[in-house]
Amino acid sequence: MTEPITLHGPRITLRPWRLPEDLEALFAINRDPQAMRFFPKVMDRAESDAWGRRMADACARNKGFWAVDLPGEGFVGAVGLLPVAPDFGFGEATEIGWRIAPRMQRRGLAEEAARLSLAYGFGPLGLDRILAWTPPVNEPSWRLMEKLGMRRDRIFDHPRLPAGHELRAHYLYVLDRTAWIAARFGD
Ligand SMILES: CC(C)(COP(=O)(O)OP(=O)(O)OC[C@H]1O[C@@H](n2cnc3c(N)ncnc32)[C@H](O)[C@@H]1OP(=O)(O)O)[C@@H](O)C(=O)NCCC(=O)NCCS
Repeated sequence: MTEPITLHGPRITLRPWRLPEDLEALFAINRDPQAMRFFPKVMDRAESDAWGRRMADACARNKGFWAVDLPGEGFVGAVGLLPVAPDFGFGEATEIGWRIAPRMQRRGLAEEAARLSLAYGFGPLGLDRILAWTPPVNEPSWRLMEKLGMRRDRIFDHPRLPAGHELRAHYLYVLDRTAWIAARFGD
């Protein structure tokens, strides 16, 4: 196994998970109807712990949502990269995603964490493109995608939501490595 990655930004650190300590703070987010208002439902403790452990495992393989750590606060969210599951039909691909505790939102923390994740994905991981998706109603999320320079590609049906579900239609956003590099040089 490779050495677990820690990424340092100006304010936050993306670090490997500390288990079981981080699961309590994660559950505070996953149980919160405000934080989860654009998801099909809030999570119970078992679901939240399973999600956290899955992310911790994925981070140990260097492609997962890291624990977002803010000095003085500790765990404030989860942001990072994940291999896209085959049922999405996007082939071999990597997604970026984010979840920040409501009390810590609108401070630029998701953006900082996302920029660190993109730099790691296009840098050391050598990815050619990174995807993201969210329902149109999740304006905070797709606005963040646009702020990061991602382009809206199309609308698709989320494969794990049934026909007729109000959250089934999702925007798919794409960021290509070439566009990411060009943006670094102000093109
Ligand atoms: C989406 C989310 C991660 C943003 O986290 P955040 O730390 O508040 O975001 P930031 O402060 O870094 O904001 C960065 C940009 O995102 C966009 N944004 C964030 N919150 C927004 C809001 N409430 N309304 C509109 N745009 C918003 C803006 O473009 C913002 O840039 P600006 O501040 O210059 O306008 C956060 O709202 C969240 O955790 N939501 C719940 C989980 C979720 O829905 N995850 C995505 C599932 S697809």
